[in-house]
Amino acid sequence: MRWSVFVVLQGLILSALFGVYYIHQDRVIVLKKPPASIAQWYKPQNKRQVWLHTMFNLRREMLAVGMYASAQDDKNLQDWAGKLSQHYQKIGEMVPEWQGRLSPNVLADIKSAAQEKRYSDVALGLEKLEQNCKSCHVDFRAVTATMYRAPNFSNLSVEGAPSLNAHMRTMSTSVNKLKLAFVGGRDDDALSAFVDLKRDMNSFGAVCGNCHKQGKPYPSPVITEALSVMEQSLKTGDLKDKGRALGTLAVLACAECHGTHRISYDIRQLFTEQKSWAELLKHK
Ligand code: HEC
Ligand code: HEC
Ligand code: HEC
Repeated sequence: MRWSVFVVLQGLILSALFGVYYIHQDRVIVLKKPPASIAQWYKPQNKRQVWLHTMFNLRREMLAVGMYASAQDDKNLQDWAGKLSQHYQKIGEMVPEWQGRLSPNVLADIKSAAQEKRYSDVALGLEKLEQNCKSCHVDFRAVTATMYRAPNFSNLSVEGAPSLNAHMRTMSTSVNKLKLAFVGGRDDDALSAFVDLKRDMNSFGAVCGNCHKQGKPYPSPVITEALSVMEQSLKTGDLKDKGRALGTLAVLACAECHGTHRISYDIRQLFTEQKSWAELLKHK
């Protein structure tokens, strides 16, 4: 092939790729995913949260090195600089794909400055190291924590329901039936929707024990109180009382848990599910 043809072809391919990127840039969120090899340092593949504890060690060691440098305490300074260096190397041993993100020369500088009692150079080295920590965290911290540590609801079931989501939909239907019934002046229907909701909330409570081993009672005492206020106002309250009681109940019994668990579980699913390119490129 002639050189000129080759160059023109390359140019065409590049501009087509750039065009695809340009057209979609405000419709797609691009995130870097951590290498899959990191999974072995997290539960359930590992018994301990090894990755996270290595990170906690690094933070403690940086603090120690800084403290002992400014105190000019040579013995401790060198001990802790050694530990810092070891754990920093661990990053690349645990996830070899990240070797290239490390700056071993900064660590070497910190260690030699510590040995030669150049305390202000130690502090300078720590600042540089901090930048290196930060650059990886900006890219990977949130996505890794969500993928590997956000509580996973996908394998949980609720007794008597085909799936957790089906149980959720049933409870949601009861909440709305309850509202429609009291707004429409159908008091018996309101009470029967309330009874359904209360029963389904009680059976949902067992789900929490899968993870909250120390017990996270659901319905909690506050929710139980809100349930009895709801029941009372269905019997004797006016429309405003009923509306307020239901609002309080929905916040305590549904929204608080959604704020903690549903958001993080939804994002976890988003990060871990495979999406096809065709789907991503759809203009919808
Ligand atoms: C190559 C990537 C990478 C480098 C380099 C790195 N980290 Fe991390 N770090 C991570 C990831 C990924 C997480 C998220 C882990 C999680 O939350 O499960 C994290 C989380 C942390 C956390 C926990 C954050 C929190 O408050 O919960 C600390 C502390 C931490 N890193 C300290 C450090 C220090 C100090 C350095 C530099 C000496 C460093 N890390 C370098 C990838 C890196
Ligand atoms: C798949 C595991 C899992 C299930 C199931 C689960 N949780 Fe959690 N939950 C966690 C983890 C992990 C945390 C964060 C750390 C902690 O507090 O233990 C948390 C935190 C929370 C928090 C915020 C922190 C706090 O303690 O106040 C609330 C509220 C909560 N869960 C409520 C519930 C309720 C209510 C249920 C059942 C209806 C439930 N969770 C079921 C794993 C789970
Ligand atoms: C564990 C705490 C928790 C509590 C308490 C909770 N939910 Fe949920 N809810 C979730 C989670 C997690 C999901 C996402 C489940 C999924 O996507 O598989 C969800 C999903 C839903 C959905 C969407 C179902 C679907 O098919 O997409 C509805 C509706 C819902 N919840 C209603 C409620 C109502 C109403 C209440 C209160 C009576 C409630 N939830 C209480 C955690 C909770």
